[in-house]
Amino acid sequence: MDGTRPEGMRVALVTGASGGIGRACAVSLAEDGWAVAVGYRSSEAAARETLQAVEEAGGKGTVVRLDVTDEGGVREAFRTVAEDLGPVAGLVNNAGMSRDGLAIRYPTAAFDRTMETNARGAFLCSREALRDMLRSRWGRIVNVSSAVALRGNPGQVAYAASKAAMIGMTRSLAREVGSRGITVNAVCPGVVITDMTEGLPDERIAALVGNTPAGRPGTPAEVGAAIRFLLSEEAGYVNGAVLAVDGGLTA
Ligand SMILES: NC(=O)c1ccc[n+]([C@@H]2O[C@H](COP(=O)([O-])OP(=O)(O)OC[C@H]3O[C@@H](n4cnc5c(N)ncnc54)[C@H](OP(=O)(O)O)[C@@H]3O)[C@@H](O)[C@H]2O)c1
Repeated sequence: MDGTRPEGMRVALVTGASGGIGRACAVSLAEDGWAVAVGYRSSEAAARETLQAVEEAGGKGTVVRLDVTDEGGVREAFRTVAEDLGPVAGLVNNAGMSRDGLAIRYPTAAFDRTMETNARGAFLCSREALRDMLRSRWGRIVNVSSAVALRGNPGQVAYAASKAAMIGMTRSLAREVGSRGITVNAVCPGVVITDMTEGLPDERIAALVGNTPAGRPGTPAEVGAAIRFLLSEEAGYVNGAVLAVDGGLTA
């Protein structure tokens, strides 16, 4: 197996691509020649803005409703993308949620929802993507984990647990499918200002940035660039890696 991408395997699906990092990732992939399926849960309008940005970058794509907690919906979304653009050869499990709170008062339902979205959602999408990837013996999966999976963060027990689960999933899946021309890697962003960080108090962000050698938050585009590399043909020998994109926060 020489790891060469078969003809036509140029379709990437980015989940949660209506939001900050997902949108930047979609644009990065478009710049690299991928046709991009823009997955969204609640806002088709925001997904269409992402698609517009993809097209402005010279790329093409489609929008697809994809709630990663809905098993049947995940299957349906992959079917739709295959019909519209072709089989998914690159999957970015970017959809994610965070509800912060100290463990002592944290609601069980919020813990379950966090795991269901971040960890189980990445599993459902990866399992679905693997069908076509195994058939064509080529594929790329990138899981968007987090720096807090590596260093922990008070008030984020559920979120950190879900993101650490994604790292375990990454490494195990990399071992399962690495002989079939498929790679599975994770990126761990540090602080990136998006809708997700909007609810955080300024002092929490300042504390994290204060611990970041770069001395500033990262940009969605910086995370998108790392994901683009991991999806590239050139990254064929990078498998099971956990790449911190955090300005040194976890160094
Ligand atoms: N920003 C940071 O500092 C940071 C750091 C480390 C890791 N991350 C990770 O980066 C990823 C992107 O986050 P972001 O910062 O770009 O925040 P964001 O703008 O809030 O984007 C999150 C995206 O996930 C989607 N989503 C949530 N639940 C979903 C579901 N059940 N099914 C499908 N999509 C769903 C959201 O769509 P809706 O709006 O419809 O819910 C939204 O588009 C997340 O996995 C996050 O954990 C972010």
